[in-house]
Amino acid sequence: MSLDGAFSHLTIEVSDLDKSEAFYRDVIGLDVLGRNLVAENRPTSLLAMNTRQRVLLVEVPDVPPYPASGGSIHHAWLLNIDQFIRARDRLEALGYETGIDPRQSFRAVGEYNMDIHDPDGNRFQIQAFGEEATEVLASGAGTVACGRIEDFPVGSVTRFAEGRFFLVRNDDGFLALSAWCTHKNGITIWQKESWHFYCPFHGAKFDRGGCYKGHMGCAPLRLNPVSIGGDGTVSVDTDRFYARDRYDPAQAVAPRPGAEFDGTGLEPLTVSYDKPTPRKRSHG
Ligand code: FES
Repeated sequence: MSLDGAFSHLTIEVSDLDKSEAFYRDVIGLDVLGRNLVAENRPTSLLAMNTRQRVLLVEVPDVPPYPASGGSIHHAWLLNIDQFIRARDRLEALGYETGIDPRQSFRAVGEYNMDIHDPDGNRFQIQAFGEEATEVLASGAGTVACGRIEDFPVGSVTRFAEGRFFLVRNDDGFLALSAWCTHKNGITIWQKESWHFYCPFHGAKFDRGGCYKGHMGCAPLRLNPVSIGGDGTVSVDTDRFYARDRYDPAQAVAPRPGAEFDGTGLEPLTVSYDKPTPRKRSHG
C-alpha cells in the first residue's frame, strides 16, 4: 500500500462528546470543525490538526477501558523540538504532569516523550527528536588498544563498551563499527545467535558489515579507524568517524602489522563530545 502523502483521519470512540471535544480542543489544541458532519448514525465531532489530518470523535455507550497493565495501544503525535517544548509548557500550565514516561529506559538519545490520556483513558504519546538524536557522539575514550591480531579470530565480534564500538574480524580484516545507531542514536547490541547488531530503541538491525537490514532506510553503522601496530596490536581511534553508504572490503584493515584504515572515498564526520542534554525548560 502506498500513501498519498499521509493518513487522512483518526477515529476515536468517546463516552461523553462534550467532555472529549473540550479536551481535544483546549488541551491538545485542535480546531473544532463541527458536529455531525460525517455519515455516521451516532453523535460525532470533527476536529482538525494544523496539518491536513482530522480527528473524528464518535460518542458510544461504552468505551473499552485502557488496559490496567498499560499495554502498548496508543496513538502518537510527532512534533519538532520547539513545538514539543511549547506543548509541554502548555500541558503543565493546564495542570498535567509531563515528566511521566513509562518507557523512558527505551528512549534513544535526543528522543523526548510525554504521555497524556484523554477523558476516556485513551493514551496519546507526544514525541519529538532533538538535534542530539542525529549527532555523531564520541565517547572520549581516545585511541583504544584492543589486543593482538591473534586475539580476534575470523568471525569474531567484540564489544568495547568504553569506546562504544564493536571490533569485527571478517574475511577481509578488521572493522570497528560505532555502536551508535544511525537511526536516532540508540545503542546497538550484538546478537550473536542472529548474527546481527540490533537496536532495541526502534528495532533496527545491521549485518556484520554494519549495513542496515530493513525498511527504515538507515545508513550503515559508522566506522572508527583501525590501525595495527608493528607488534600486532590492534587499535581503534574513537575520536574519528566515517560515514559510508555500503560495505566495501577496502574498509577492512588487513590483519598484519603496520596496516591501517584508509578512509579514501568515505566521508569524515564532525564529532560532538558533549553529553547530550535535554533542552532547558527556559528554551520555550
Ligand atoms: S535509534 Fe531508532 S532504531 Fe536505533
